[in-house]
Amino acid sequence: MKRCLIVTGGGDCPGLNAVIRAIVKRANSEKNWEIVGSIEAFNGILNEPTEIVILDDEKVSGIHYQGGTILQTTNKGGPFAWPVKNRDGSWSAVDRSEEMLRKMQYLGIEAVINIGGDGSQRISKRLHDMGLNIIGVPKTIDNDLTATDSTFGYQTAVQIATEAVDKLVTTAASHNRVLILEVMGRYAGWIALNAAVAGGAEICLLPEFPYDIDKVLQSVNKRFERDRGFVNIVISEGARAIGKDYATLSQEEIGYENRRLGGVANVLMNQLKEAGCEHSIRTTVLGHLQRGGIPIAYDRVLATQFGVKAFEMVLNGEYGRMVSYQHPYISSVSLEEALQQPNIVEMDTALMKTARGIGISFGI
Ligand code: F6P
Repeated sequence: MKRCLIVTGGGDCPGLNAVIRAIVKRANSEKNWEIVGSIEAFNGILNEPTEIVILDDEKVSGIHYQGGTILQTTNKGGPFAWPVKNRDGSWSAVDRSEEMLRKMQYLGIEAVINIGGDGSQRISKRLHDMGLNIIGVPKTIDNDLTATDSTFGYQTAVQIATEAVDKLVTTAASHNRVLILEVMGRYAGWIALNAAVAGGAEICLLPEFPYDIDKVLQSVNKRFERDRGFVNIVISEGARAIGKDYATLSQEEIGYENRRLGGVANVLMNQLKEAGCEHSIRTTVLGHLQRGGIPIAYDRVLATQFGVKAFEMVLNGEYGRMVSYQHPYISSVSLEEALQQPNIVEMDTALMKTARGIGISFGI
Protein backbone atom coordinates (compact mmCIF):
# COMPACT_ATOMS: atom_id res chain seq x y z
CA MET A 1 0.00 0.00 0.00
CA LYS A 2 1.31 3.47 -0.93
CA ARG A 3 0.48 6.51 1.20
CA CYS A 4 -0.41 9.96 -0.06
CA LEU A 5 -0.62 12.80 2.48
CA ILE A 6 -2.99 15.75 2.12
CA VAL A 7 -2.13 19.05 3.79
CA THR A 8 -4.29 22.19 3.95
CA GLY A 9 -2.24 25.30 4.81
CA GLY A 10 -2.68 29.07 5.07
CA GLY A 11 -6.01 30.81 5.51
CA ASP A 12 -9.07 28.63 5.00
CA CYS A 13 -11.22 29.03 1.93
CA PRO A 14 -14.57 27.63 0.73
CA GLY A 15 -13.92 24.50 -1.34
CA LEU A 16 -11.03 22.94 0.61
CA ASN A 17 -13.20 20.01 1.68
CA ALA A 18 -14.37 19.43 -1.89
CA VAL A 19 -10.71 19.06 -2.95
CA ILE A 20 -10.03 16.59 -0.13
CA ARG A 21 -13.10 14.54 -1.02
CA ALA A 22 -12.21 14.46 -4.72
CA ILE A 23 -8.67 13.23 -4.01
CA VAL A 24 -10.00 10.41 -1.84
CA LYS A 25 -12.69 9.42 -4.36
CA ARG A 26 -10.21 9.38 -7.25
CA ALA A 27 -7.73 7.37 -5.19
CA ASN A 28 -10.44 4.80 -4.41
CA SER A 29 -10.37 3.54 -7.96
CA GLU A 30 -6.67 2.68 -7.52
CA LYS A 31 -6.40 -0.29 -5.25
CA ASN A 32 -2.95 0.37 -3.83
CA TRP A 33 -3.20 3.90 -2.37
CA GLU A 34 -4.13 5.02 1.10
CA ILE A 35 -4.90 8.72 1.63
CA VAL A 36 -4.05 10.33 4.93
CA GLY A 37 -4.36 13.93 6.13
CA SER A 38 -2.10 15.97 8.39
CA ILE A 39 -3.93 17.98 11.03
CA GLU A 40 -3.31 21.75 10.93
CA ALA A 41 -1.07 22.00 7.86
CA PHE A 42 2.32 20.31 8.41
CA ASN A 43 1.97 20.57 12.19
CA GLY A 44 0.32 17.14 12.28
CA ILE A 45 3.56 15.59 11.09
CA LEU A 46 5.82 17.75 13.24
CA ASN A 47 3.79 17.37 16.45
CA GLU A 48 4.44 14.62 18.96
CA PRO A 49 2.36 12.51 19.03
CA THR A 50 1.87 12.68 15.27
CA GLU A 51 -1.56 13.88 14.21
CA ILE A 52 -2.58 12.26 10.96
CA VAL A 53 -5.94 10.79 10.02
CA ILE A 54 -6.89 8.16 7.48
CA LEU A 55 -9.16 9.69 4.87
CA ASP A 56 -11.53 7.04 3.61
CA ASP A 57 -14.94 7.21 1.96
CA GLU A 58 -16.76 7.47 5.25
CA LYS A 59 -14.58 10.36 6.44
CA VAL A 60 -15.10 12.46 3.30
CA SER A 61 -18.69 11.54 2.56
CA GLY A 62 -20.84 14.64 2.02
CA ILE A 63 -18.14 17.19 2.87
CA HIS A 64 -18.10 18.82 -0.59
CA TYR A 65 -20.41 21.63 0.45
CA GLN A 66 -18.96 22.24 3.89
CA GLY A 67 -16.86 25.35 4.44
CA GLY A 68 -13.49 25.30 6.23
CA THR A 69 -11.29 22.22 6.19
CA ILE A 70 -11.83 18.98 8.06
CA LEU A 71 -8.03 18.84 8.40
CA GLN A 72 -7.78 22.29 10.02
CA THR A 73 -5.18 24.80 8.94
CA THR A 74 -2.81 27.50 10.12
CA ASN A 75 -1.04 30.48 8.65
CA LYS A 76 1.63 30.56 11.34
CA GLY A 77 5.00 28.85 11.51
CA GLY A 78 5.55 25.79 9.33
CA PRO A 79 8.46 23.38 8.82
CA PHE A 80 10.96 26.11 7.91
CA ALA A 81 10.01 28.52 10.67
CA TRP A 82 8.79 26.53 13.65
CA PRO A 83 8.31 28.89 16.62
CA VAL A 84 10.29 27.94 19.72
CA LYS A 85 10.16 29.81 23.02
CA ASN A 86 13.54 30.90 24.38
CA ARG A 87 14.45 30.93 28.07
CA ASP A 88 14.04 34.70 28.24
CA GLY A 89 10.46 34.40 26.96
CA SER A 90 11.24 35.61 23.42
CA TRP A 91 10.52 33.44 20.36
CA SER A 92 12.81 32.11 17.63
CA ALA A 93 12.04 30.34 14.35
CA VAL A 94 13.68 26.93 13.90
CA ASP A 95 14.04 25.02 10.63
CA ARG A 96 12.53 21.54 11.16
CA SER A 97 12.20 20.63 7.49
CA GLU A 98 14.89 17.86 7.46
CA GLU A 99 13.36 16.28 10.54
CA MET A 100 9.91 16.45 8.94
CA LEU A 101 11.09 14.72 5.76
CA ARG A 102 12.66 11.92 7.83
CA LYS A 103 9.41 11.49 9.72
CA MET A 104 7.41 11.35 6.50
CA GLN A 105 9.72 8.62 5.24
CA TYR A 106 9.24 6.71 8.48
CA LEU A 107 5.45 7.07 8.09
CA GLY A 108 5.67 5.60 4.59
CA ILE A 109 4.47 8.75 2.85
CA GLU A 110 5.22 8.49 -0.83
CA ALA A 111 3.55 11.68 -2.06
CA VAL A 112 2.18 14.91 -0.62
CA ILE A 113 -0.61 17.13 -1.97
CA ASN A 114 -0.33 20.60 -0.45
CA ILE A 115 -3.50 22.68 -0.83
CA GLY A 116 -2.67 26.31 -0.15
CA GLY A 117 -1.97 29.81 -1.40
CA ASP A 118 1.32 31.46 -2.33
CA GLY A 119 2.88 31.05 1.14
CA SER A 120 2.04 27.33 1.20
CA GLN A 121 3.31 26.80 -2.35
CA ARG A 122 6.60 28.49 -1.42
CA ILE A 123 6.90 25.80 1.24
CA SER A 124 6.00 23.15 -1.40
CA LYS A 125 8.77 24.45 -3.66
CA ARG A 126 11.41 24.34 -0.92
CA LEU A 127 10.36 20.83 0.14
CA HIS A 128 10.43 19.67 -3.48
CA ASP A 129 13.94 21.10 -3.85
CA MET A 130 14.88 18.92 -0.86
CA GLY A 131 13.58 15.84 -2.66
CA LEU A 132 9.96 15.52 -1.48
CA ASN A 133 7.38 14.19 -3.95
CA ILE A 134 4.97 17.09 -3.63
CA ILE A 135 2.17 18.61 -5.69
CA GLY A 136 0.50 21.97 -5.05
CA VAL A 137 -3.18 22.80 -5.34
CA PRO A 138 -3.87 26.56 -5.51
CA LYS A 139 -6.23 27.97 -2.92
CA THR A 140 -7.03 31.58 -2.15
CA ILE A 141 -10.10 33.77 -1.97
CA ASP A 142 -7.88 36.63 -3.17
CA ASN A 143 -7.32 35.07 -6.64
CA ASP A 144 -3.82 36.50 -6.59
CA LEU A 145 -2.01 33.69 -8.43
CA THR A 146 -1.19 34.25 -12.12
CA ALA A 147 -0.50 30.62 -12.95
CA THR A 148 -4.16 29.61 -12.81
CA ASP A 149 -7.18 31.28 -14.43
CA SER A 150 -8.99 31.04 -11.12
CA THR A 151 -8.69 29.64 -7.62
CA PHE A 152 -11.57 27.97 -5.81
CA GLY A 153 -13.14 30.00 -3.00
CA TYR A 154 -12.70 33.26 -4.85
CA GLN A 155 -16.12 33.29 -6.52
CA THR A 156 -17.78 32.40 -3.23
CA ALA A 157 -16.05 35.37 -1.59
CA VAL A 158 -17.19 37.62 -4.48
CA GLN A 159 -20.76 36.36 -4.02
CA ILE A 160 -20.71 37.08 -0.28
CA ALA A 161 -19.22 40.55 -0.84
CA THR A 162 -21.82 41.29 -3.54
CA GLU A 163 -24.66 40.27 -1.24
CA ALA A 164 -23.24 42.66 1.35
CA VAL A 165 -23.21 45.52 -1.20
CA ASP A 166 -26.81 44.69 -2.14
CA LYS A 167 -27.85 45.02 1.49
CA LEU A 168 -25.87 48.20 2.08
CA VAL A 169 -27.35 49.88 -1.01
CA THR A 170 -30.85 49.74 0.49
CA THR A 171 -29.80 51.21 3.82
CA ALA A 172 -27.62 53.87 2.13
CA ALA A 173 -30.56 54.90 -0.04
CA SER A 174 -32.99 55.00 2.88
CA HIS A 175 -30.76 57.26 4.97
CA ASN A 176 -29.07 59.34 2.26
CA ARG A 177 -25.74 58.05 3.44
CA VAL A 178 -22.27 57.10 2.31
CA LEU A 179 -21.78 53.41 3.08
CA ILE A 180 -18.23 52.05 2.99
CA LEU A 181 -17.73 48.28 2.73
CA GLU A 182 -14.25 46.91 3.47
CA VAL A 183 -13.49 43.58 1.81
CA MET A 184 -10.53 41.18 1.83
CA GLY A 185 -7.95 40.71 -0.88
CA ARG A 186 -4.68 41.96 0.66
CA TYR A 187 -2.67 43.31 -2.25
CA ALA A 188 -5.02 42.15 -5.05
CA GLY A 189 -8.30 43.99 -5.54
CA TRP A 190 -10.26 41.27 -7.36
CA ILE A 191 -12.93 40.75 -4.69
CA ALA A 192 -13.53 44.50 -4.35
CA LEU A 193 -13.63 45.12 -8.10
CA ASN A 194 -16.06 42.26 -8.79
CA ALA A 195 -18.33 43.15 -5.87
CA ALA A 196 -18.40 46.81 -6.94
CA VAL A 197 -19.42 45.92 -10.49
CA ALA A 198 -21.91 43.21 -9.46
CA GLY A 199 -23.39 45.26 -6.62
CA GLY A 200 -23.54 48.58 -8.45
CA ALA A 201 -21.23 50.54 -6.16
CA GLU A 202 -20.29 54.05 -7.26
CA ILE A 203 -16.73 54.06 -5.92
CA CYS A 204 -14.20 51.23 -5.67
CA LEU A 205 -10.78 51.64 -4.06
CA LEU A 206 -8.12 49.04 -4.77
CA PRO A 207 -4.62 48.25 -3.46
CA GLU A 208 -3.26 48.52 -6.99
CA PHE A 209 -4.20 52.20 -7.41
CA PRO A 210 -3.59 54.51 -4.42
CA TYR A 211 -6.44 56.99 -4.32
CA ASP A 212 -6.60 60.78 -4.20
CA ILE A 213 -9.00 61.65 -1.38
CA ASP A 214 -10.12 64.85 -3.11
CA LYS A 215 -11.16 62.85 -6.15
CA VAL A 216 -13.03 60.40 -3.95
CA LEU A 217 -14.83 63.30 -2.30
CA GLN A 218 -15.70 64.80 -5.68
CA SER A 219 -17.27 61.48 -6.71
CA VAL A 220 -19.20 61.33 -3.44
CA ASN A 221 -20.54 64.87 -3.79
CA LYS A 222 -21.62 64.26 -7.38
CA ARG A 223 -24.15 61.74 -6.05
CA PHE A 224 -25.85 64.19 -3.72
CA GLU A 225 -28.22 66.98 -4.60
CA ARG A 226 -28.38 69.18 -1.56
CA ASP A 227 -28.61 66.51 1.17
CA ARG A 228 -30.38 63.87 -0.87
CA GLY A 229 -28.52 61.01 -2.48
CA PHE A 230 -26.42 58.06 -1.44
CA VAL A 231 -23.12 56.41 -2.24
CA ASN A 232 -21.80 52.91 -1.88
CA ILE A 233 -18.05 52.50 -1.71
CA VAL A 234 -16.26 49.14 -1.84
CA ILE A 235 -12.73 49.35 -0.52
CA SER A 236 -10.16 46.58 -0.46
CA GLU A 237 -8.36 46.07 2.87
CA GLY A 238 -5.06 46.81 1.11
CA ALA A 239 -6.15 50.12 -0.43
CA ARG A 240 -4.46 53.33 0.68
CA ALA A 241 -4.41 57.02 -0.14
CA ILE A 242 -1.52 58.35 -2.23
CA GLY A 243 1.56 58.65 -0.02
CA LYS A 244 -0.03 56.79 2.92
CA ASP A 245 0.72 53.38 4.37
CA TYR A 246 -1.64 50.38 4.63
CA ALA A 247 -4.18 50.29 7.44
CA THR A 248 -2.95 47.56 9.76
CA LEU A 249 -4.04 45.80 12.92
CA SER A 250 -1.85 44.88 15.87
CA GLN A 251 -0.03 41.64 15.41
CA GLU A 252 0.70 39.58 18.51
CA GLU A 253 0.39 36.04 17.16
CA ILE A 254 3.64 34.06 17.33
CA GLY A 255 4.88 32.86 13.94
CA TYR A 256 2.41 34.98 11.91
CA GLU A 257 4.46 36.47 9.11
CA ASN A 258 2.02 38.62 7.14
CA ARG A 259 1.15 42.17 8.04
CA ARG A 260 -2.41 42.05 9.36
CA LEU A 261 -4.43 44.43 7.27
CA GLY A 262 -7.69 45.94 8.48
CA GLY A 263 -9.47 49.14 9.38
CA VAL A 264 -9.18 50.96 6.08
CA ALA A 265 -12.94 51.66 5.94
CA ASN A 266 -12.64 53.79 9.07
CA VAL A 267 -9.46 55.40 7.78
CA LEU A 268 -11.32 56.39 4.62
CA MET A 269 -14.29 57.71 6.60
CA ASN A 270 -11.98 59.97 8.62
CA GLN A 271 -10.12 61.11 5.51
CA LEU A 272 -13.42 62.02 3.85
CA LYS A 273 -14.55 64.00 6.90
CA GLU A 274 -11.21 65.81 7.08
CA ALA A 275 -11.48 66.62 3.39
CA GLY A 276 -14.83 68.29 4.06
CA CYS A 277 -17.43 65.58 3.46
CA GLU A 278 -20.62 66.66 5.23
CA HIS A 279 -22.71 63.60 4.52
CA SER A 280 -23.46 60.91 7.02
CA ILE A 281 -20.99 58.01 6.67
CA ARG A 282 -21.13 54.45 8.02
CA THR A 283 -18.61 51.63 7.67
CA THR A 284 -18.85 47.84 7.51
CA VAL A 285 -15.93 45.41 7.64
CA LEU A 286 -16.96 42.13 6.02
CA GLY A 287 -13.91 40.23 7.28
CA HIS A 288 -13.93 36.48 7.68
CA LEU A 289 -17.56 36.13 6.58
CA GLN A 290 -15.95 36.06 3.12
CA ARG A 291 -13.97 32.95 3.96
CA GLY A 292 -16.49 30.87 5.87
CA GLY A 293 -19.52 28.85 4.94
CA ILE A 294 -20.78 26.97 1.95
CA PRO A 295 -18.86 27.22 -1.35
CA ILE A 296 -21.01 28.17 -4.34
CA ALA A 297 -21.43 25.54 -7.07
CA TYR A 298 -18.66 27.02 -9.26
CA ASP A 299 -16.10 26.64 -6.48
CA ARG A 300 -17.23 23.11 -5.59
CA VAL A 301 -16.83 22.09 -9.22
CA LEU A 302 -13.41 23.75 -9.61
CA ALA A 303 -12.23 22.28 -6.30
CA THR A 304 -13.37 18.81 -7.37
CA GLN A 305 -11.55 19.17 -10.68
CA PHE A 306 -8.40 20.24 -8.84
CA GLY A 307 -8.61 17.26 -6.47
CA VAL A 308 -8.98 14.68 -9.23
CA LYS A 309 -6.17 16.27 -11.23
CA ALA A 310 -3.87 16.42 -8.19
CA PHE A 311 -4.21 12.69 -7.56
CA GLU A 312 -3.71 11.90 -11.24
CA MET A 313 -0.49 13.91 -11.06
CA VAL A 314 0.56 11.72 -8.13
CA LEU A 315 -0.15 8.61 -10.26
CA ASN A 316 1.94 10.07 -13.10
CA GLY A 317 4.75 11.20 -10.79
CA GLU A 318 4.38 14.84 -11.89
CA TYR A 319 5.95 16.25 -8.73
CA GLY A 320 7.18 19.81 -8.19
CA ARG A 321 4.15 21.14 -10.02
CA MET A 322 0.94 22.93 -9.12
CA VAL A 323 -2.50 22.14 -10.50
CA SER A 324 -3.72 24.98 -12.68
CA TYR A 325 -6.97 25.90 -14.42
CA GLN A 326 -6.23 27.06 -17.95
CA HIS A 327 -9.60 27.28 -19.58
CA PRO A 328 -10.93 24.86 -20.78
CA TYR A 329 -8.29 22.54 -19.31
CA ILE A 330 -7.21 21.56 -15.85
CA SER A 331 -3.51 21.45 -16.35
CA SER A 332 -0.36 22.10 -14.29
CA VAL A 333 2.61 24.47 -14.02
CA SER A 334 5.96 24.10 -12.27
CA LEU A 335 5.95 25.44 -8.71
CA GLU A 336 8.62 27.87 -9.79
CA GLU A 337 6.39 29.30 -12.51
CA ALA A 338 3.41 29.32 -10.14
CA LEU A 339 5.22 31.68 -7.77
CA GLN A 340 6.76 34.06 -10.25
CA GLN A 341 4.42 37.01 -10.06
CA PRO A 342 1.16 37.81 -8.31
CA ASN A 343 -2.10 38.25 -10.17
CA ILE A 344 -3.13 41.83 -9.57
CA VAL A 345 -5.65 44.17 -11.19
CA GLU A 346 -4.06 46.22 -13.99
CA MET A 347 -5.49 49.34 -15.59
CA ASP A 348 -6.06 47.46 -18.86
CA THR A 349 -7.70 44.44 -17.16
CA ALA A 350 -11.00 43.80 -18.99
CA LEU A 351 -13.11 44.19 -15.85
CA MET A 352 -11.35 47.42 -14.96
CA LYS A 353 -12.31 48.81 -18.37
CA THR A 354 -15.89 47.66 -17.84
CA ALA A 355 -16.03 49.26 -14.41
CA ARG A 356 -14.72 52.56 -15.71
CA GLY A 357 -17.10 52.24 -18.66
CA ILE A 358 -20.09 52.22 -16.32
CA GLY A 359 -18.73 55.18 -14.38
CA ILE A 360 -17.29 53.57 -11.25
CA SER A 361 -14.77 55.95 -9.71
CA PHE A 362 -11.42 54.61 -8.49
CA GLY A 363 -10.35 57.87 -6.88
CA ILE A 364 -7.54 58.33 -9.40
O1 F6P B 1 -5.14 35.60 1.89
C1 F6P B 1 -6.47 35.43 2.20
C2 F6P B 1 -6.88 36.38 3.26
O2 F6P B 1 -8.23 36.15 3.46
C3 F6P B 1 -6.60 37.86 2.97
O3 F6P B 1 -7.53 38.42 2.11
C4 F6P B 1 -6.56 38.43 4.36
O4 F6P B 1 -5.78 39.60 4.45
C5 F6P B 1 -5.94 37.34 5.13
O5 F6P B 1 -6.24 36.14 4.49
C6 F6P B 1 -6.38 37.30 6.58
O6 F6P B 1 -5.94 36.14 7.17
P1 F6P B 1 -6.12 35.73 8.70
O7 F6P B 1 -7.11 36.62 9.32
O8 F6P B 1 -6.53 34.30 8.66
O9 F6P B 1 -4.78 35.87 9.29
